[in-house]
Order: sequence, then C-alpha cells, then structure tokens
Amino acid sequence: MPLNLAVLISGSGSNLQCIIDRVASGALHADIRLVVSNRPEAFGLERARKAGIPTVVLPHGNYLDREDFDRALIAAIRDHGADAVAMAGFMRMVTPMFLQTFPGRVLNIHPALLPSFPGTHGQRDAAEYGVRIAGCSVHFVDEGMDSGPIIIQAAVPAFPTDNGETLGARILTMEHRIYPQALQWLSEGRLSAQGRKVFVAPAARSKAFIGEPGEYMVFPPLEEGF
Ligand code: GAR
Repeated sequence: MPLNLAVLISGSGSNLQCIIDRVASGALHADIRLVVSNRPEAFGLERARKAGIPTVVLPHGNYLDREDFDRALIAAIRDHGADAVAMAGFMRMVTPMFLQTFPGRVLNIHPALLPSFPGTHGQRDAAEYGVRIAGCSVHFVDEGMDSGPIIIQAAVPAFPTDNGETLGARILTMEHRIYPQALQWLSEGRLSAQGRKVFVAPAARSKAFIGEPGEYMVFPPLEEGF
C-alpha cells in the first residue's frame, strides 16, 4: 500500500519536486493525493499541476485563527484521501487538533541541524552564527517550533564566506536526498518513536546503503534509490 500523502507548501516547492521525482523513479512508494499551499502565488502549485496532482489553496488570511485554518486543512486532506502529511517549506505552525488527526504521520523538513536554529531562517541564522558544519533535519512534527523527534539529518560544510543563500543552497541539495528517504521509511511502517528517540526498523529485504555522498554525512545512511 503506498503512502497516501498530502504535501503542504508555501513557496518554491523544490522539496515537493524531489518527492514527485522519487515517486516517479519508484524509490518512494507514495500517492501524492494533493498539494496544499497557504499562498496562492507559491511556485510549487505549478509543479503540482504539471505533475497532475490536485492542488488546494487556503490563504491563511481568510481564516479567523489557527484552528479555523486547520479545520479547512484537515477537510481538504481527508477529502482527497490522504492520511499522512509532509510539510515541505510550509511556513506555518499546526495546532494540536491537526496533529491529533494524523498521529505520528506528520513530518517536516528543516534547513538546520536541529535543535540548533529552529524557526523561519535556519540557513541564514546558521551562516550568521558562523557554524562550520550546517545541515538539515527531517522530524516528526509536534506542538513546538521544529521541536519534534528527529528522524534523519544530513550535514554539510559551512564557510566563513557563506550567507544564508549560499549555505541554504548547499543544505537544500541534501534536503532533497533525506526527505524522500524519511517518507519511504514512513511508507514502509519502519519508523517508531520512543520519547525523543526515533528508531528505523531494518528493511524487510536487504537494501544496500549508499553511504556518505562525497563530503557530506547523512545518518542514518541513505538506502539505494535516494
Ligand atoms: C526549505 O529549505 C525548507 O527546509 C525550509 O523552507 C525551504 C522551502 O524550500 N523550511 C523551513 O524553513 C521551515 N521552518 P522549497 O519550497 O523549495 O521546498
């Protein structure tokens, strides 16, 4: 059974694109049932339309409060038959009500090595801080800001000459590797969390690890196809 997935976006949607591409390559067993944006101008909506995926636009300004917005979001997700959610550059917090509707099935990608640099400018904050190793994290979403249990992280080098854009571009290449992998683990039912610790169960049939790509470090290791 593929993962019946809703992807939530607010902008460019390059992570959405990599999810679409991994589904097309057969590595990610998911059916992207819909793409939801809270911004009508999000380029990711174009990517979805091009891939033949239904889109829903919910301009957040049209709703009274977060719960009101999340009720509409839940209805759209359910109406399209999705029961798992990938937040992919979705610049909004979701309510406890939303999380209770899809328990253990809401993932987010963040452009920093959490718990460092949560929030909306992780790449810029890391560059300005002067870190020498930056990266990205995929985590289960909880009620806090980028604070849920971490599933996979990838590290990239950071240079003193970096700014948010140059560092962000380097981080983004690894976001595109680790997010589809984490979603495939979810699809295969291999993820479990005990408190803050996330366990990835071994694959049913053996899968080769592809190891560290170049100078980057990814842990747990990526498997074939990602
Ligand atoms: C990505 O870098 C993602 O990690 C980040 O927004 C960008 C969206 O790019 N998300 C956050 O900062 C969430 N706190 P995309 O629209 O091209 O996927």
